[in-house]
Amino acid sequence: MLTGKRILLGVTGGIAAYKTAFLVREFVRAGAEVQVVMTRAATQFITPLTMTTLSKREVIIDMFPPSPDQPPHQPIRHINLALWGDVMLIAPATANTIAKIAHGEADNFLTTLVLALRCPLIIAPAMDVDMYLNETTRKNIALLRETGCTVLEADSGELASGLSGSGRMPEAVRLFDEVVKSLNNSRRDLAGKNVLVTAGPTHEPIDPVRFIGNRSSGKMGFAIAAAAAWRGANVTLISGPVSLSTPRNVRRLDVSTAREMNAAVMAEFPATDLLIMTAAVADFAPARSSQQKIKREQKPGGKFVLELLENPDILEAAGAKKTGQMIIGFALETENGVENARKKLASKNLDIVVLNNPLVEGAGFSTDTNVVTVITASGKVEEFPLMSKIDVANALLSRALKGLR
Ligand code: CTP
Repeated sequence: MLTGKRILLGVTGGIAAYKTAFLVREFVRAGAEVQVVMTRAATQFITPLTMTTLSKREVIIDMFPPSPDQPPHQPIRHINLALWGDVMLIAPATANTIAKIAHGEADNFLTTLVLALRCPLIIAPAMDVDMYLNETTRKNIALLRETGCTVLEADSGELASGLSGSGRMPEAVRLFDEVVKSLNNSRRDLAGKNVLVTAGPTHEPIDPVRFIGNRSSGKMGFAIAAAAAWRGANVTLISGPVSLSTPRNVRRLDVSTAREMNAAVMAEFPATDLLIMTAAVADFAPARSSQQKIKREQKPGGKFVLELLENPDILEAAGAKKTGQMIIGFALETENGVENARKKLASKNLDIVVLNNPLVEGAGFSTDTNVVTVITASGKVEEFPLMSKIDVANALLSRALKGLR
């Protein structure tokens, strides 16, 4: 099942480290090559000898030899290993290591390796319930997820401290499945393809301090950009104003208004193989944007009428200019979803339209999940269950791949 796959397995200092030993054995049995990297703290919980024996490769712990009389380590070993791995799993991942990775620290071999990594990274947190639910830990986990890293939810149950709650490392079978899923999703099947993704809202200025916008968080588009990059595509992400970190290996262009987004998309479109428009582009913009802040007293009678003019429909314009590109559009509908989405597919000359309804539980703007229906130009309608946005992204890319030349 995993023949020829190269797995980097990071182990940090938590009691769940003993379970990772089973995992090493399962990976090796499935045909994978496993390189275990431990932190010093991890060696307090399980011996490097155990891991070396099970993985049949010498475990790496230190960046530099622990004492001067030992021979120097192979130079740039962290970079070579970073390029070697097809996937990296850190299990168990302590709150400390999660915090360090989230902030780009490189103070031991494991964190230095992570910083240089090009393959997908899966993190399996394991810690006590209060550490897991701590506001800072939650923020660090959110930050890692934004950059396209998979941070698994910890299991609930009895903890080593005697307390009960969330913080248990997910079971080995689940970790195994996650690694397999990630390897399947990072087959580099989009290598050489130019993928253009738009994300987020647009802001249409009324005056220097006010704008018309919408609730789009950009999460769906950023997930697609991250997934496409993991699969080897050259990804350009044109983003409206959002507060998300740029996924690894993604070229990001920031825009603010629909007109700016239109110009950026049109400039990139000719060299694009696949365009995915997740952006919630404002359909209208103020006819005039005041250079100065509009004062209340400028509007006598308490009435302020704002004249709006239509913005370009970026997707429609791209559809009209198509010369072999594949185009995926999104349709945000609160009623008559499939019918309206089909109309958009036809009128904008799309290959696939992704229908979603922000009123459905688990779908919509700020969530990490989505519920979508995928409709293709050939008329196929596929309803997906509630999925994480990164899983939706991968499913869409797999559908798109079938149509890409
Ligand atoms: N879109 C676009 N340019 C616009 C408006 C929308 O490129 N000015 C794109 C969106 O990125 C999305 C698709 O068109 O991929 C559909 O967006 P949506 O807001 O659902 O539909 P609209 O075409 O704006 O139609 P309506 O608002 O009437 O539903």
